[in-house]
Amino acid sequence: MTLWIEKIQNAKSLEELENLRVDTLGKKGVLTIEFTKMKDIPAEEKKSFAEKLNLQKEQITKALDIKKVELEFEALNKKLESEKIDVTKFNNELSCGAYHPVAETMNRIVNYFLNLNFAVEEGPLVEDDFHNFQALNLPEYHPARDMADTFYNKDYTLLRTHTSPVQIRTMLSQKAPIRMIAPGTVFRRDFDITHTPMFHQIEALVVDDADKISFANLKHVLVEFLQHMFGEVDVRFRPSYFPFTEPSAEVDISCVFCKGDGCRVCSQTGWLEVLGCGVVDQNVFDAVGYKDKSGYAFGLGIERFAMLIHSIGDLRSLFESDTRLLGQFK
Ligand code: PHE
Repeated sequence: MTLWIEKIQNAKSLEELENLRVDTLGKKGVLTIEFTKMKDIPAEEKKSFAEKLNLQKEQITKALDIKKVELEFEALNKKLESEKIDVTKFNNELSCGAYHPVAETMNRIVNYFLNLNFAVEEGPLVEDDFHNFQALNLPEYHPARDMADTFYNKDYTLLRTHTSPVQIRTMLSQKAPIRMIAPGTVFRRDFDITHTPMFHQIEALVVDDADKISFANLKHVLVEFLQHMFGEVDVRFRPSYFPFTEPSAEVDISCVFCKGDGCRVCSQTGWLEVLGCGVVDQNVFDAVGYKDKSGYAFGLGIERFAMLIHSIGDLRSLFESDTRLLGQFK
C-alpha cells in the first residue's frame, strides 16, 4: 500500500490522480478487491483483516484528498498566471470616450456666450404655471398650455416646456442690467423624427435701461453668433409671434453651409429656421416688477443645431446610445 500512497503523492495532474483513485478505491480497484476477500477469511482473523483494510482505505483516501487540494491550487494558480492582465502595458488602441454631439454643441454655444460676458443661469426642471407660462405673457387659452403639449404633474406643477422660465427667475432675483444665458433640458409631449419628449435649449436674455437695448443689438449678436456656428451663411429675420417678445422674429440661415451630396438637411426654399427671438414684451417686465427697462431675448434648440452641423437626419438617433453614431464624434 505504501507504493500506492507514494504514487498518489507524486501525481502530476488531477487526471493522473483520478486514475489512481479508480485504481485503488474504484469498483475494480486493488482495495475494493481486497474487501471482497473478506468472505473467505476465517472468522477469527476477520476483525484484524478488516481493521487493516479500513486503515489502508483511510490512508489512501486522506492522501487522495490532500493531493487533490494541492493539484487544484496549482491549477488555479496556473490559470490566474495565464490570465493576468498587465495594466501598465502600452496599448495604442485604447478606446477613449467622446462628447455626445448634443453636449458638444451645447458647450460650443455656452463658451461662445461666456466669451461675450454672458452669465450662465439655471432653473428647476419642474416648474410652476407662473414661471413657465403666466409671467411670460402666455395667456390661459394659449395652445402651449394644453395637456396635449405639456407634461403636468398631479400637483399642477409641470415639466418646463422651454428655458424661458429662467428669464423670469433671474429677473425676480436680480436687478437690471442682466446679461444671461440659460442652457438646459426641456420637455414637450411630442415624438417624431424632429421631436423628442426631452430635448435641450439655450436661452439668452439681455436687459438694461429703456432705450439702451434695441432690436438692432439683437440682430447684430445673432448674425455674429450664427456665422460663428455655421460659417459664412446669410441670416434672415422673419416676423413671427411669441407672447413674451414684441416684436418677435424667427431666424433663418441660408443653406450654403451644407453643400454637396453629404447634405441631407437643406430645405426647398434654401433657408433653414434655427431660432426664435424678439424684444422683451412689457407684460413680462410688469410680471417681474421691472420699470423703464428694455431687453431682448432669444431661444434655440440644441439638437436642431447639432443635427444641422453634423447632417443628422433623425433627431431620435441622438438618444439611442448607438455607438456607431457616437463613435463618429471622437
Ligand atoms: N421659448 C421659445 C420656444 O421655446 C423660444 C424663444 C425664446 C423665443 C426667447 C423668443 C425669445 O420656442
